[in-house]
Amino acid sequence: MTASWVQLLYLAASVLFILGLRGLSSPETARRGMFLAEVGMLLAIVGTLLHRDIISYEWIIAGFIVGSAIGTAMGLLIPMTKMPERIALSHAFGGLAAALVGISEYYRHGVELGSVKMGAIGFECVLGALTFTGSLMAFGKLQGLLTGVPVTYRGQNTSNISLFVVTFVLLAVLIVDPGRSPLFYGMLGLGFLLGVLMVLPIGGADMPVVISLLNSYAGLAASATGFVLSNNVLIIAGALDGASGFVLSILMSRAMNRSFGNVIFGAFGSTAESAAVAAGPAAVGVNEGTDADAAAVLEAAQSLIVVPGYGMAVAQAQHAVRELTEILEQHGTSIKYAIHPVAGRMPGHMNVLLAEADVPYDQLFDLEHINDEFGKTDVALVVGANDVVNPAAKTNPGSPIYGMPVLNVEQARTVIVLKRSMSPGFAGIENELFVRPNTLMVFGDAKKTLTRVIQQLKG
Ligand code: TAP
Repeated sequence: MTASWVQLLYLAASVLFILGLRGLSSPETARRGMFLAEVGMLLAIVGTLLHRDIISYEWIIAGFIVGSAIGTAMGLLIPMTKMPERIALSHAFGGLAAALVGISEYYRHGVELGSVKMGAIGFECVLGALTFTGSLMAFGKLQGLLTGVPVTYRGQNTSNISLFVVTFVLLAVLIVDPGRSPLFYGMLGLGFLLGVLMVLPIGGADMPVVISLLNSYAGLAASATGFVLSNNVLIIAGALDGASGFVLSILMSRAMNRSFGNVIFGAFGSTAESAAVAAGPAAVGVNEGTDADAAAVLEAAQSLIVVPGYGMAVAQAQHAVRELTEILEQHGTSIKYAIHPVAGRMPGHMNVLLAEADVPYDQLFDLEHINDEFGKTDVALVVGANDVVNPAAKTNPGSPIYGMPVLNVEQARTVIVLKRSMSPGFAGIENELFVRPNTLMVFGDAKKTLTRVIQQLKG
């Protein structure tokens, strides 16, 4: 009887996970999607706690308290701009949990394991170990604890691939003869080592793609755990996680116009300081404006497109952006927001921030739906965006971002750019938008500048 209840709860949880993922495909349904997935997770936990194999709840309660305390603290204390780091840490925990379950199952059953179960345990341990150390490396690079510059050496890709092959040869031997425990622990050690070595050559700014890929490994490890423990909900949830993480990594690479292989093996992000940064704004002929200039241009505008980027997230300027657009809307200005698919540092980064500031969804437009409108717009207000508005992606075949779809902001009558200096963005390249005659650069932290512009407009 209890077993049927457990399976029913697992079934309901799996359906909710699928509906939750579907909800996440649009900002309008994302909150509901998250809620459905949370309910699904609750049902999966309740189902697991009803399991007849549980003989004592003491350790489970202790784990529940520690896990909830860590999860609540992470949720409350970590700011939105640190979301990639937080996700990297969560994946590290997920990978470690999967590897530990695999180790304990091998320790308990060892020689008696059949080849299918041994295969699943081996897969789970290698992927879990690799996800653990790889995610910790990604966290370290994003947090600045490790160098964000790609670390490369001769023969790196060949030696990494060889280690991979050795790891899977060990797994194959174990499937034939599960009793060889030294090989099992050797394989596990190689899994931990591979996580470090694979992330070493990848630049700090490519970490979101890596994290998404590690998410997919953690999902596959969880799915393998499901096979080991004969747990249906783990198999389904792990497969969903594995597939969606992999698709997301590919989509992110594609939106940056880079192949998946280039992200993983390309050592991107080691560009030297650009000439404009070295020379300073005045030397390269920039139209530098003040808050008052920006306020005057905005006040006269009939139509405005706001282009948020990573700098808006750093400055936490989303509320100021919202306040400014509300004031202008009251003056009759038409307001739209242009959202580039890879603006910021994680998928949906800008949507999340703007939703937090209660920007209406009907003002948000994807690149393909707004790009033709810049030519008919009075002002494009670029708030901390750089690469996603760089015309070089369309005009300079030698540029590393050539071919990446970008927002046509330069076609607006006037472009106002809010950033602190002439420093480049993620791709480390100059942006000729900043020296165009119709561009007004207002230097400073985006939130502080916007606050002063708002005061000018109110005055
Ligand atoms: P970026 O090109 O990274 O430029 C951000 C700009 O914000 C910088 O030039 C910086 O200039 C400015 N900034 C930083 N702090 C600021 C502050 N407090 N106030 C005002 N400005 C500030 O950003 P983007 O245009 O959003 O492009 C995103 C890039 O990340 C793309 O190249 C994309 O391929 C890459 N990427 C994105 C993702 C996802 S999924 N979103 C994943 C991996 C990589 P200053 O220092 O001069 O202020």
